[in-house]
Amino acid sequence: MNLEERIKALAEQTEFTADDRKAFEEFKELLRKGEIRAAEKDSAGNWKANAWVKQGILLGFKMGAMIEVSSEGDQFQFFDKDTYPLRPMSLEDRIRIVPGGSTIRDGSYIAPGVVCMPPMYVNVGAYVDEGTMIDSHALVGSCAQIGKRVHISAAAQIGGVLEPVNANPVVIEDDCLIGGNTGIYEGVIVREKCVIASGVILTRSTPVFDLANEVVFKAQNGKPLEIPSHAVVVQGSRAITSGFGKENGLSIYAPIIVKYRDERTDAATKLEDYLR
Ligand SMILES: CC(C)(COP(=O)(O)OP(=O)(O)OC[C@H]1O[C@@H](n2cnc3c(N)ncnc32)[C@H](O)[C@@H]1OP(=O)(O)O)[C@@H](O)C(=O)NCCC(=O)NCCS
Repeated sequence: MNLEERIKALAEQTEFTADDRKAFEEFKELLRKGEIRAAEKDSAGNWKANAWVKQGILLGFKMGAMIEVSSEGDQFQFFDKDTYPLRPMSLEDRIRIVPGGSTIRDGSYIAPGVVCMPPMYVNVGAYVDEGTMIDSHALVGSCAQIGKRVHISAAAQIGGVLEPVNANPVVIEDDCLIGGNTGIYEGVIVREKCVIASGVILTRSTPVFDLANEVVFKAQNGKPLEIPSHAVVVQGSRAITSGFGKENGLSIYAPIIVKYRDERTDAATKLEDYLR
């Protein structure tokens, strides 16, 4: 039985042996090394979720026993499943974790050159590629797939797949800027070099209006919402044109692609090499 088959079989069990736990540890180590991923891009450029990987992550919660994870005598106490300790790290990993209350859960992949500003949280199954900056108060949710040289600004929230239950992880491709106080949830795919302006919220149910091409992007036919590459998305609103909404002059939140990235955007979003 290969690892995928083993994980699927274990997911059906309710009791576990030491050998079963060993199989789970092997699975978690491969996640940590980035050798297995919750979602992968195929040669045609389409993202495909690996459902069995999420199954394996849930298995860890089922299999784990609650333990105290604080250091002895520590005033700050922590309790979690013994299957999900902090990710083991060393200087050789070449990941900068600036002191101040950040947490990276085991079973996540963090590439060399990633910078973590405190406090931030990376959950299990997340994949964060080279040169990405995760700024203060940012969340990289379970199984989220983050590309190279992405800037996840302060307080940006990248949602996970565990709760509420979602099938597809959020994907942020290379060279995106995810602005401050943004929220990207429910399997949204942000293609490379996009700029998501501060405050924009994207979910599976959010239509995105493209001013440049006069089209509306939506999640449909089981496919997640996808933001095309180089898009600059800002917060907007649209009028409710009938009934009670119209009578009361209400409008509803509507993210808008105001343009596709140009030199001005590059200047506004330039990253500082010295910080890396
Ligand atoms: C998107 C952003 C990068 C600006 O990009 P830009 O290419 O310089 O945009 P421009 O100034 O050319 O603006 C293009 C249009 O969008 C509008 N616009 C730009 N940013 C906007 C925003 N955040 N909200 C609403 N409208 C915005 C402009 O008013 C302009 O509209 P107009 O053509 O009708 O005048 C900037 O608004 C932004 O959000 N930066 C990220 C800030 C941040 O989160 N930093 C992280 C700190 S930790």
